[in-house]
Amino acid sequence: MPTDHRRNAQRLPWRMLASAILLACCSGQGHAAPPKPSGHWSLVTVGNAPTPPMGWNSWNAFFTDLDEAKVMGVAEAIVKTGLADRGYRYINIDDGWWLKRRSPDGRMVIRTAIFPSATGNNSDDTSFKPFTAKLHAMGLKAGIYSDIGYNSCSQAWAPQGPNLPEGTIAEREVGLHGHVSQDIALYLGDWGFDYIKVDACGLSAFGPNGGGGKQGKYRIWQPLVVDQKVNLTNISAVRALYAEVGHALSMQRPGGDFVLSLCNWGTANVRSWGKDVGTMWRTSNDMAPRWTNMLHSFDSVATRELYAGPGHWNDPDMLEVGNGAFDNNHLLQARAHFSLWAIEAAPLLIGTDLRTAPQPILDILGNAEVIAIDQDAAGNQGVLAHNSGDYQIIVKTLSGRGDKAVALFNRSDEQADIQLNAAHLKMAADRPIRVRDLWTHQDLAPFTGARMVRLQPHEVVLLKVSGTPLLASGFFLSEMTGRINVAEDGIVSPEADPTIHRMADPYAYSTSSTGSRPIYAGWGAPRADSTPYDETLGIAGTSYRTGIGALANSRIEVRADGAFERFTAEVGVDDSTRDKTAAVQFEVYGDGKLLVASPSMRFGQAAVPISAAVQGVKIIELIAHQKNSSRENMVVTWANAALN
Ligand code: GAL
Repeated sequence: MPTDHRRNAQRLPWRMLASAILLACCSGQGHAAPPKPSGHWSLVTVGNAPTPPMGWNSWNAFFTDLDEAKVMGVAEAIVKTGLADRGYRYINIDDGWWLKRRSPDGRMVIRTAIFPSATGNNSDDTSFKPFTAKLHAMGLKAGIYSDIGYNSCSQAWAPQGPNLPEGTIAEREVGLHGHVSQDIALYLGDWGFDYIKVDACGLSAFGPNGGGGKQGKYRIWQPLVVDQKVNLTNISAVRALYAEVGHALSMQRPGGDFVLSLCNWGTANVRSWGKDVGTMWRTSNDMAPRWTNMLHSFDSVATRELYAGPGHWNDPDMLEVGNGAFDNNHLLQARAHFSLWAIEAAPLLIGTDLRTAPQPILDILGNAEVIAIDQDAAGNQGVLAHNSGDYQIIVKTLSGRGDKAVALFNRSDEQADIQLNAAHLKMAADRPIRVRDLWTHQDLAPFTGARMVRLQPHEVVLLKVSGTPLLASGFFLSEMTGRINVAEDGIVSPEADPTIHRMADPYAYSTSSTGSRPIYAGWGAPRADSTPYDETLGIAGTSYRTGIGALANSRIEVRADGAFERFTAEVGVDDSTRDKTAAVQFEVYGDGKLLVASPSMRFGQAAVPISAAVQGVKIIELIAHQKNSSRENMVVTWANAALN
């Protein structure tokens, strides 16, 4: 049983212990000065994932108890069941593959007792080449796992578990630190892997009091990451270490043919900078096959819709479909979990043992219509169109004009009749909207205006809808989140996001601490159809259903690619602003040149319409330029912001 395994592995107190460690802190991403236009798309694509990566990873199925027979068995199953044809390509090994780092040259040695095909001419000369070659010959890709520090997670938190690295302290330093170029050249060069997941226990768990450090078996590393305490975390140092890995990968694969998966569990404000450093980045602590863990993971991406897009993806963690609360006895919950990952354009990494997975689970994972929502080429993440603790409606704009996916989510424990209406979909209320149910594979009767949908407790109904867009041409910016890059968020000091479900510690389920509190920074970042503090957009008493909410001194880039003629919005200081005295000017730039600016505006002033010709413009930048200092954050709204 996975949970038992985790308990036996004694991993329970690690994130909690880490929070007790004191160390020097650093600042967030604050900007005292108003941002300047960059004139270009400043997001650099790291690796190659135009749509969210799909595949399988060994961790949720086997933890460190993995071996070649299991992994190859799963790879064969992924091909045989047709899942590979549905897009699942990456076969990723997680923690547990390593034996040691060889002295004195530092070459990593594979644990050939569990990966026999890696056995070389002498005992230390191991190679994964036969393993990856076999996967490649099956039409699959291969992924490997490492840590950004000296040591790995299982060394800190599963000291009794199988397959821990062996040898001297130096030989047991299997993480990338100090060996980044060497390891990347070995893994993605000689050994032929295509994907690397880089964990972060080496930065958090090996301080004098951490799970690793206190055992006296490892070199002490004063933590750079303190879980749950962003102010005690050295954000810039963590980012720089991961950037070094991205650089080494680009050197190794200049064509960018790789995936870099950052796995520091939403710490260090990675929800803001992961897009600039990795192909995908974990936004939360580990998923476990429990309902409330799934809610926690989902919530950690649900408000980050402006951070994902083609080539860069929010990662709420690997799937638990097939396990625990999402197994064959809980198919409704399994469909809900899978639907939510798809509507959020999350990477789809299967975490169950596919050799034995029952057909209903394979059918969920293989639902081509749901996968197509996840993989839609526009790369838009779903946007919350209705949000409460009980019900959510999440809408993802698809590439076909007038096509959207919508997930209706009943989080409550009671059956519910949920209204879906044209306004949620930004569609004309007087024109028919066609509906297809992506789980029953049936076209439902078209509706006009609104329709009710009955949901069982914990059910997600996932629909594809086609209708007449409210805008005669073009899109609201919140319908094109995949074209947006939050270049500067205007946040001066990072704050934890209180909207994420407060799950119990996924390894301990214990109440020994004082509780589960908001932990991930990102509160105050720009949002689609919401203020940065999750309130309804509003200027001088008028509420708006759509627009971009942001803090003053934010800079938002929009990749227009010369495809639009005009930018329009109604701008003003949002009624929810913390600072009610300072002034802000709204500026729109096209390829670095000022196109239009609003007058200076203050709290309570009616919205001002702005409009700018953008023919031929590649990059539009929206800057909320604060004119004088303020004691508190200013909240601003680009209401009805649209490109047409
Ligand atoms: C965790 C990580 C998991 C898994 C595990 C291995 O930190 O979030 O996905 O990789 O380490 O020990």
